[in-house]
Amino acid sequence: MRILSGIQPSGSLHLGNYFGMMKRMVDYQENNELFCFLVNYHALTSVFDAPFLRRQTYEAACDFLALGLDPAKSVFWVQADVPEVTELTWLLSNVTGVGLLERNHSYKDKTAKGIPASQGLFSYPVLMAADILLYGAEKVPVGKDQKQHLEITRDIAIRFNNTYGDTFVIPEPDIEDELAVVPGIDGQKMSKSYGNAIEIFTDEKSLKKKVMSIKTDSTPVDQPKPIEGNPLYEIYALFLDDRGKKELKERFLTPGLKYGDVKKEILGVIWDYFEPYRNERKKLAEDRQFVVDTMREGARKARQVATVYLEKARRNVGLDYWN
Ligand code: TYM
Repeated sequence: MRILSGIQPSGSLHLGNYFGMMKRMVDYQENNELFCFLVNYHALTSVFDAPFLRRQTYEAACDFLALGLDPAKSVFWVQADVPEVTELTWLLSNVTGVGLLERNHSYKDKTAKGIPASQGLFSYPVLMAADILLYGAEKVPVGKDQKQHLEITRDIAIRFNNTYGDTFVIPEPDIEDELAVVPGIDGQKMSKSYGNAIEIFTDEKSLKKKVMSIKTDSTPVDQPKPIEGNPLYEIYALFLDDRGKKELKERFLTPGLKYGDVKKEILGVIWDYFEPYRNERKKLAEDRQFVVDTMREGARKARQVATVYLEKARRNVGLDYWN
């Protein structure tokens, strides 16, 4: 199956990105055709600092490669290295109703948080639809915050196919309920831009500071602790199998549990979990040429697929006047 997903290099990648998307992508690469990319065109809707964008793009590439994304098995590239996607965005724009975009929650949320209400931000979902349709993706693993974007993609694809004849594959979202929304240290959705993220690759001191400030409620020690909506439980559970989760649940429900002790445990669990990747990450960060060459080669492979879909779309809308 052809599986595709992208991530914005607009800040350091965190546990929400890892469990919501990155880990699942790495797992999928064994038995599927995997397409994975860093969406720097999308990041331009909120990042206006060129050196920062450059650095974050490179860092995100290192993160993915260190975590096991294998460029020999998958197609891994930087979105803007295949600029064909912007042309497809234009073709899709003309079958995208303004009302569809006006109903987009993410636009409303982002502008409410102070991101400029630009035309780019407004049409963000059209570029995302182009990302997905340009590669004939069948399945798109994402966190729950991307659900509406996927619905918009499907609407656009269906409208395009109905208008111009069968051109695009209609993709299915792949959202895993349990990992759909990873909470941040304040209990809200973990996000690159809310200051509430636990980064995947950070030093031990910063990690400790973050973990120790995970929000807790004021349930007395001698009372059972809540599980649902408790970021401490939810973050810990990410690292456990079913049995581990059951045991953790029992510990939370048994009076006497101290949140401070749980925080110390979580710190150890997170640090140890990423330990095997940390060395690899360090090596990659120092081998610029290898990382850049890998991304360029990925873009070359991605473009081979992209041009086939783009040519078909150009033909179907009638840009091929020579015929
Ligand atoms: P982005 O960069 O915000 O996030 C990347 C992926 O991480 C998931 N995610 C989370 N999952 C669970 N809990 C969280 N707290 C959490 N935070 C982030 C996101 O759902 C996402 O899957 N618009 C996309 C990028 C994009 C894309 C695409 C995705 C552009 N083109 C094509 C798929 C296909 C975005 O901003 O993701």
